[in-house]
Amino acid sequence: MNFLSANDISKEEINRIFDIADTFVAGKQTASIKEHSVLAMYFEKPSTRTRLSFEVGMTQLGGRAIFIDSRTTQLSRGETYADTARMLSNYCDFIAARLNKHTDLIEMANNSDVPVINALTDLEHPTQGLADLYTIRSHVKSLKDTRIAFMGDLQNNTFNSLMVLAAKEGAEIFLVGPQGYLPKAKYVTKVKEYSKVVATNSLEDGLENADVVYTDTFISMGQEGEAEKRRKMFAPYQLNQKALDMAGKKAIVMHPLPAHRGEEITSDVLDGSRSVAIEQARNKLLLNKALVLYLSQH
Ligand code: CP
Repeated sequence: MNFLSANDISKEEINRIFDIADTFVAGKQTASIKEHSVLAMYFEKPSTRTRLSFEVGMTQLGGRAIFIDSRTTQLSRGETYADTARMLSNYCDFIAARLNKHTDLIEMANNSDVPVINALTDLEHPTQGLADLYTIRSHVKSLKDTRIAFMGDLQNNTFNSLMVLAAKEGAEIFLVGPQGYLPKAKYVTKVKEYSKVVATNSLEDGLENADVVYTDTFISMGQEGEAEKRRKMFAPYQLNQKALDMAGKKAIVMHPLPAHRGEEITSDVLDGSRSVAIEQARNKLLLNKALVLYLSQH
């Protein structure tokens, strides 16, 4: 089994991974991965949290992770993703890849004999989505009918994954961003299969009664060339105190980090009592461990 996309996983599988994470929290996890298992981490983009959470997680599970900076590999000199994956899967038990293009991740997965995990691509960030959904679950009575509002760049890779995972659990998705600027149709269609999705350019309409207000960078890795245009386009959708006041009284604030303070979110909101950004980062370790353990059993 691979974990390339939020579409790869059913509600039952999400809940099974959450159960494993719960047993880690309770200190009751007895199963582990095969001793000395190795996770190859092939990264084309920078990372702090995803890299560290997988590296620490593999150590805690009794295996290890080997970080491979793509710039130091033969792939940077033209070796194919397919040949790289064939070779990595001979040496290692799992592969986690952070790639520029999702299509390259699929090529790796199609040529790997071991599970491949998406550690972020241009389209998705499903391991972040799992950690975020687990975080939301601990702050609401039930994920079903929980209202999640996302503000800003509605084509954000992290939210593509989260909204599909959350919809599978019955959460409602509110997209708050510029008129006519929507996620790719395939993600909206997928959310509609399971739940409700509303898109609006009105902050009042989109944030009203929200249980969760989520934002992420306006300029994702690889979009630096469009920085000025994107800053202008998304500026009205900054998550600041005025916007938060439009949401439900107990709404939590989420951001996957790294944050660009003063851009997509203000420091008072990110550091405020309703922010769970640090909890999201902490849960990445828990959920990445649970995911690797789950994949080792399937
Ligand atoms: N949220 C996230 O993926 O962080 P990193 O880019 O630091 O891994």
